[in-house]
Amino acid sequence: MRTLDDLGELEDKRVFVRVDFNVPLKDGVIGDDARIRAALPTLQELRRRGARLLLAAHLGRPKGRDLDFSLAPVAARLTELLGADVTLAGDLDTVPDGDVVMLENVRFEPGETKDDPELAARYAALADAYVNDAFGAAHRAHASTHAIAELLPSAAGLLLQREVETLQGILADPPRPLVAIVGGAKVTDKLGVLEAFLEVADTVLIGGAMCFPFFKAQGHSVGASLCEEEGIAPAQRVLADGSDKVRLPVDLVCGEAFDAETPVTDVDGIDVPDGLMGLDVGPRTAAAYGEIIASAGTVFWNGPMGAFELAPFAAGTRAVAEAVAAASGTTVVGGGDSAAALRQFGLEDQVTHLSTGGGASLELIEGKTLPGVEVLA
Ligand code: 3PG
Repeated sequence: MRTLDDLGELEDKRVFVRVDFNVPLKDGVIGDDARIRAALPTLQELRRRGARLLLAAHLGRPKGRDLDFSLAPVAARLTELLGADVTLAGDLDTVPDGDVVMLENVRFEPGETKDDPELAARYAALADAYVNDAFGAAHRAHASTHAIAELLPSAAGLLLQREVETLQGILADPPRPLVAIVGGAKVTDKLGVLEAFLEVADTVLIGGAMCFPFFKAQGHSVGASLCEEEGIAPAQRVLADGSDKVRLPVDLVCGEAFDAETPVTDVDGIDVPDGLMGLDVGPRTAAAYGEIIASAGTVFWNGPMGAFELAPFAAGTRAVAEAVAAASGTTVVGGGDSAAALRQFGLEDQVTHLSTGGGASLELIEGKTLPGVEVLA
């Protein structure tokens, strides 16, 4: 992968920088600016080398030019964080010549998600070099993440480089034991990751509603728990292939409904009584998982242990988050829900690497090639 060092002299050059500024936004207010802050080292380094920046990002999945998806709030936040004015360009034909200019949401252009070479050529005409720092969007072959890279001298930004090296390092040569914690609602979403870790990890800890297809496959009752039927056969295969590595919860915290006000029932076991749903792992599971995490050489965590957004069912995810934060080994947390959990508990600065990519980090762990990375080779 080409890196910033390969770009050579950048003084007064205009660099098209693709960033992932797809941040949570409600009524124009940014809920979490972590992705913006994560791009700062690359932006600062390019400015230190005298480059003028043309930033490009997507926000959400707009259908056409819908200004509810405007990057204006992001440009305002970046102005504060960078300490330099970030001018938002109205459209591709009238891009001003400032030090830091941001294009409007690239998904306002119909060719963007089609990896359209004509759109890529219009982007490329605006710059002298291309840097991709949008790790979170690197699994998309889009005009600003893929086609443009073939038209200009191109390199990975510092964030993209660190993400790829860290995540690939987990699979290649991790300090052992390597412990993978895989949670979330659906087995089928995480099957590729589970299969990858059954190959390379020493222990795989499973949590979240995705444990119910495993329990059902083992003949346990799951009550009213969320239990993905299509997940039962894959869960059976995972159990057959990885019986020596896979650990499942041994106790549960249940409720009558997915609701913070529901009466809470602790179940010391894994058979869920009729009318109840499992919404968190129990304290014995949390303690056992915590011990395994503490003695790991490397930990990778993706997916919560339960409905951590509901206070009565947050303890299992909190215990895992605290164990990961306290672990002495290398700790890597995939983006998405586990990153949100870590932030909810104020532990985001206490892991070795918190990925800015949700889907991208999973695809990389699954061993898939990311189009936005491959094109920088
Ligand atoms: C993300 O938030 O995971 C990335 O920014 C990619 O967004 P997308 O799934 O809309 O392509």
